[in-house]
Amino acid sequence: MAETSVLFVCLGNICRSPIAEGVFRSLLEKDGLSHAIRVDSAGTSGYHEGELPDVRSMEICTTHGLDLSGQRSRAVRDSDFEDFEWIVAMDSSNLQELRRRAPAHCEARIVRILDYGDGGTKDVPDPYYGGRDGFENVYQMLVQALEPFLSEVSAGLH
Ligand code: 4NP
Repeated sequence: MAETSVLFVCLGNICRSPIAEGVFRSLLEKDGLSHAIRVDSAGTSGYHEGELPDVRSMEICTTHGLDLSGQRSRAVRDSDFEDFEWIVAMDSSNLQELRRRAPAHCEARIVRILDYGDGGTKDVPDPYYGGRDGFENVYQMLVQALEPFLSEVSAGLH
């Protein structure tokens, strides 16, 4: 059984958090940690329930050697607050919504991914209404923040 668990969360679970999940899985594979850390992603909304990631997220990831085709969008559910040790928001609005929904004695660590980044902006911008450049930008922001985030998560493993 996995020793810890990480849930990546954005609004729609079709653009940003699927990329975060894909990049994080590839880091786990590289470090031989796939068995130790369970990973999933979800949206604060259920607007795209059951859908594949946005085609632009899939394409950007394909160019970087990542396959997102096994992912399907789902909404955050109440049980996530018990089932995951780490719940990782893509932006401040997701963070606020997760904290609002979390039960009073929630033990999950609810964090914002760019708090692990290089100290610039705190929000991964929503690329949904923009062009493809926005998706590459999201990918690059996530790559630079997910490595330090993984160091923190793995420091807590036995
Ligand atoms: P995401 O992007 O939160 O990164 O998946 C969005 C996807 C869909 C919508 C908004 C943001 N939407 O309004 O449908």
